[in-house]
Order: sequence, then C-alpha cells, then structure tokens
Amino acid sequence: MTQKPYVIDELISAKAIAARVEALAKEIAEFYADTEKLTVVGLLRGSFVFIADLVRELDLPVEVDFLEVSSYGNATESSREVRVLKDLRGEIEGRDVLLVEDIVDTGYTLRHVLEFLGTRHPKRLEVCALLDKPSRREVDVKARWIGFEIPDKFVVGYGIDFAQRNRNLPHIGAVRFL
Ligand code: IMP
Ligand code: MG
Repeated sequence: MTQKPYVIDELISAKAIAARVEALAKEIAEFYADTEKLTVVGLLRGSFVFIADLVRELDLPVEVDFLEVSSYGNATESSREVRVLKDLRGEIEGRDVLLVEDIVDTGYTLRHVLEFLGTRHPKRLEVCALLDKPSRREVDVKARWIGFEIPDKFVVGYGIDFAQRNRNLPHIGAVRFL
C-alpha cells in the first residue's frame, strides 16, 4: 500500500519540548524525593525518545525498564484490548514506578497497562505522558504529569510515528494530507 502524500506542520518545537521535559523532571523528582529507587517504565515504542531525555534530567536513583503492548486494530475495536508483547525484565513489587507514555488518546492503552502493572503490586505507580488529547478520551484515566495538551490532530516526531515513519523528527508536528 502506498502512503498518501503528506506534510508535517510543526506543533511543538524541540526547544519547547526540552524546556518542558526539564520542568517535568523537577516535579517528578520532588514527588519521589524519598525513594530508594525509581523504576521508570517506557512504553515501547513511542516513548523511547521522551524517556531518554526525561531520565537524563531526573536527579534520582533510577532504573529503566520497557514494556511493549500491541495497539488494538480494527478487529478488536469493540473491546480495545491490548496484549503484552514484551514484558518488563525486572520486578516492580513494592517499588516506586513511573510509567512513561507518548500520548494519551482514548485512554484504553493506559487503562490496560495500569491494570496490568497494578497486578504486580508496585508501591507507587504514576504516569507521565508527553502528550494528552483530552477531547478524544473515552475512558476515565489520568496521567499525573503531562507535557502538553494538544488538539485532536495526528502527530508525529520525538519518537512518535505515522505507520513507523517520522519517529526521528526532533520536534512534534501534525500530519496534513495534501
Ligand atoms: P489510546 O489507547 O487511544 O489512548 O492510544 C494511545 C496510543 O495510540 C498512543 O500511545 C500512540 O501510540 C497512539 N496514538 C494516539 N494518537 C496518536 C497520534 O496522533 N500519532 C501517533 N500515534 C498516536
Ligand atoms: Mg504508544
């Protein structure tokens, strides 16, 4: 299948992202100030750039782990189930955990992942999402920390893809079809 031609309009500059990541890291470090160790869990693949920048600004004892889930296709549209494709390598029972997500859209992915991680009984489990599209929400989930609220646009860059493309864009842009 060939992709329809499109252009990318800059929505959030690399500079604005860097400033926001620094501010988020400060808030997160304050919240977990008394932690022995914080396990930062990146949800693959969209969060890989964000988590790399975020942990380097985090002045805490940190461990990094990754979880990959399938995004639901049209076949499972009614249940919006997600499957775990790659589980964590480490234990999180009794640990402080920060889940790092790229975008909260309908909220189904975040809800399933929080349920999944919750069964392992972490001590504190919080979420930091780079982007939030509140107008798209279908289930009631919230990230404690959000980088930017954005309108209902399809975005790419800074780790986020459109059909696996544009993850390497340093800023965040909105896809516009020609
Ligand atoms: P949700 O389950 O509907 O909240 O979907 C969240 C996931 O859908 C995100 O983690 C992204 O992987 C993907 N997603 C949602 N909106 C966009 C977008 O604008 N661009 C790229 N991926 C998106
Ligand atoms: Mg994702």
